[in-house]
Amino acid sequence: MKDFSGKLAVVTGAGSGMGRELALQLASEGCHLAVCDIMADTAAETRCECMKIAPAGTRVTSHACDVSQEYQVVAFRDAVKAAKFAVNGFSEGLIIDLRHNAPHVKVSVVMPGHIGTNVGYNSQKILGKPSIEDMPASEIAKIRETMERRGLSTTGITDPEIKAMVKMQLESFRDNAPLTPKQAAAIILDGVRNEQWRILVGEDARELDRMVRETPEEAYELSFMNRLLEAGVYQTLLPPAASPEES
Ligand SMILES: NC(=O)c1ccc[n+]([C@@H]2O[C@H](COP(=O)([O-])OP(=O)(O)OC[C@H]3O[C@@H](n4cnc5c(N)ncnc54)[C@H](O)[C@@H]3O)[C@@H](O)[C@H]2O)c1
Repeated sequence: MKDFSGKLAVVTGAGSGMGRELALQLASEGCHLAVCDIMADTAAETRCECMKIAPAGTRVTSHACDVSQEYQVVAFRDAVKAAKFAVNGFSEGLIIDLRHNAPHVKVSVVMPGHIGTNVGYNSQKILGKPSIEDMPASEIAKIRETMERRGLSTTGITDPEIKAMVKMQLESFRDNAPLTPKQAAAIILDGVRNEQWRILVGEDARELDRMVRETPEEAYELSFMNRLLEAGVYQTLLPPAASPEES
């Protein structure tokens, strides 16, 4: 696909992050859109933003849909009336199948590295967890347990300080990433235009991919994570280093 103008794109998870940026960039190129999100209000906001920048005549609809619920996906498909909607999702497993049975349908597998989005906040909300401010003592106790298991002493750290640390971590994930969702969406759309079946988003994703291929058996071991960090991959996911005054 060389040009998105006049095509129809279905963007799931379009209420935030990479999904919203993909929708915006596609809309600006005159691609018709059906956007959905588990959060109806954020999908509707994305639609409004898209309409502001899309060329006249571009159609954008927004839908509430939890893509983990097949009946909702079917209802979404029916609403979109896309003749060939891949209900199973676009995955690596479809590539050969589609090459044989529907060569006009292309698949790209997207593998992002660290992208600065609100995925941490959003996931907590979707899982029905309270906001950080309202976090109950039982949740804070679990965080303490996790920290202790990782060798970090929580003695002398108060509950409000634990909450502040969680908040800082989520904000740091969003604000200190090597790529913004806007940059990620541009890389993804370039990959689709170039018909790349695998789109690695960011240097960290490329390095992770290279290292997994080098030593696949080690991929889920702690030693592998340590090697990744030594290679400078995912440094942005580490808690901010203590300033010299503090150490
Ligand atoms: N941000 C990263 O560093 C990163 C890295 C690798 C993979 N990913 C993956 O990329 C995808 C997009 O992430 P993002 O960082 O843009 O996050 P995001 O939270 O900014 O956006 C994800 C959107 O998907 C929606 N959503 C969640 N569950 C849904 C469901 N069941 N049905 C419909 N909508 C749903 C959320 O409401 C949200 O609007 C996610 O699958 C994420 O796991 C992100």
